Amino acid sequence: MHEDNQLTGIQTEFPRGNILVSKTTPTGVIIYANPDFCEVAGYELSQLVGRPHSMIRHPDMPRAVFSLMWETLKSGREFFGYVVNRCADGNHYWVFAQVVPDVDPDTGETVSYHSTRRWADPHACNRAMEVYRQLSEAESMERSPRAAVAAGRRALQDILTRAHMSYEEWCFSLSSL
Ligand SMILES: Cc1cc2nc3c(=O)[nH]c(=O)nc-3n(C[C@H](O)[C@H](O)[C@H](O)COP(=O)(O)O)c2cc1C
Repeated sequence: MHEDNQLTGIQTEFPRGNILVSKTTPTGVIIYANPDFCEVAGYELSQLVGRPHSMIRHPDMPRAVFSLMWETLKSGREFFGYVVNRCADGNHYWVFAQVVPDVDPDTGETVSYHSTRRWADPHACNRAMEVYRQLSEAESMERSPRAAVAAGRRALQDILTRAHMSYEEWCFSLSSL
């Protein structure tokens, strides 16, 4: 576990049927969050709107996963991934997230993004965490953020190549193990 004095190490549970939704500008600034999202994250909607989505970033999340997320979104595709987020009180919660570009049909331009997050199987989260630890370790050896992303992406690609899977296929494989 990453060292951070304000993190409790306690996982916030939420009902399996809940769907945590947020919507952002093209640069990732929050413009909407549904009541389930606000409740689990521990923020009022007014505290979230206008802030970058990285405000709920948990330090255990490797840079490489967000790099892949943005690369996928920028190419117009949706992204699926296991994500651990930080709550306002320092707790954390795991989700299986789907992030989708909202494209203007007339111009073809991405006008916003939205994400739906669902309850994630704890077994799958543990498997994801094992891999995320390896990526974070590779990233921590580097001096600059840019080099860290590159090292994390290489480490992720090595793991996926050995598994003969894309990141998305790997995510979907975790819950059936
Ligand atoms: C629609 C959407 C939802 C996002 N949801 C999350 C999220 O739940 N947790 C998170 O840490 N980052 C989320 N991000 C990614 C953040 O914008 C950011 O890239 C990430 O937190 C890494 O922050 P950093 O690049 O400042 O390190 C989301 C981005 C978009 C476009």
